[in-house]
Amino acid sequence: MKAIVQHEFGGPETLQVAEVDSPTPGAGEVVVKVTASTVNPLDTLIREGKALKEFTPLPFIPGWDVAGTVAEVGEGAPFEPGQRVFGMPRFPKPGKALAEYCVVDARNLAATPDSLSDAEAAALPMAGMTAWQAFHDTVEVKEGEKVLINGAGGGVGHLAVQIAAAAGATITAIASPSKHEWLRSLGAHEVVDYNDEAAMAALEGFTTAFNLAPGSWVPTLEAVAPGGHLITISGGADELNERAEEAGIHHHVTSVNTRDEWLAALVDLVEGGKLRPHISATYPLERAADAHRELDEGHAQGKIVITIG
Ligand SMILES: NC(=O)c1ccc[n+]([C@@H]2O[C@H](COP(=O)([O-])OP(=O)(O)OC[C@H]3O[C@@H](n4cnc5c(N)ncnc54)[C@H](OP(=O)(O)O)[C@@H]3O)[C@@H](O)[C@H]2O)c1
Repeated sequence: MKAIVQHEFGGPETLQVAEVDSPTPGAGEVVVKVTASTVNPLDTLIREGKALKEFTPLPFIPGWDVAGTVAEVGEGAPFEPGQRVFGMPRFPKPGKALAEYCVVDARNLAATPDSLSDAEAAALPMAGMTAWQAFHDTVEVKEGEKVLINGAGGGVGHLAVQIAAAAGATITAIASPSKHEWLRSLGAHEVVDYNDEAAMAALEGFTTAFNLAPGSWVPTLEAVAPGGHLITISGGADELNERAEEAGIHHHVTSVNTRDEWLAALVDLVEGGKLRPHISATYPLERAADAHRELDEGHAQGKIVITIG
């Protein structure tokens, strides 16, 4: 089968198409004929050898999000050949999703909702579970709560807006102006441009803030009311921890995982018409390097998808 194989760490040019053996399913596993996957910012760090290196001995096949049809079913896996499925295999080990076939533990898969294309379904697992985890596991966002989302127009952010809206929160979304109208249509009540210093400085009184722009946590922290919650996705900054503690704010660092109940929750929201991934751009597998180049620019609107086959 064709797959993207990384033989060295480095820039997007290290993402090369190669012929490799197709996987076979073990007990409880499914081989998915992959028609769509995505790129996530973590893929860039891994590509450069700057994250999860212990899980990516060279050579490896990158990619986590998977959507397609069931090709082969291992013993005891509750799926049928031909069934449309999506999910996220094996995190934090390489999911090996940028390939024509990918083996996935059946617990990490769900039936694809009829209303979603495979490309849309591929846009959901990693980004959607990250957003779901923030607002329904790390904290439980409630109706009427004032929620701030920084980096709201990206892969995780646009799903986080919809998930918070479905919970009945009042949402302020921080993003560049070209995304404001679109974010309002997804459920944001207020929108703020991160380059507008006065508007950023005026943000206050939020009970929960989700910061998806790692270098820009200061205004998000300052907008949280004492006793409120700040959720970040990379953590690590001692200064952030100290300042949150001084201000009486609970700081949580999330790290996504595949949980079947989170995938099921995303499916429920999709089927209830409350969640729909937005695709920023699609690239064929052979142009995975270009998908990474666009991702690395850092201004995607929704998810960048890779189509296969
Ligand atoms: N810990 C975990 O489990 C986990 C899981 C998934 C993702 N993540 C992390 O979460 C972050 C977001 O991921 P993603 O997939 O949503 O990335 P993405 O699709 O690249 O989106 C990032 C967004 O940030 C916006 N942005 C850029 N500079 C900004 C600034 N200074 N202030 C505010 N917004 C800015 C960009 O839009 P505009 O500039 O056009 O508005 C873009 O839409 C990444 O750092 C990723 O590594 C962590």
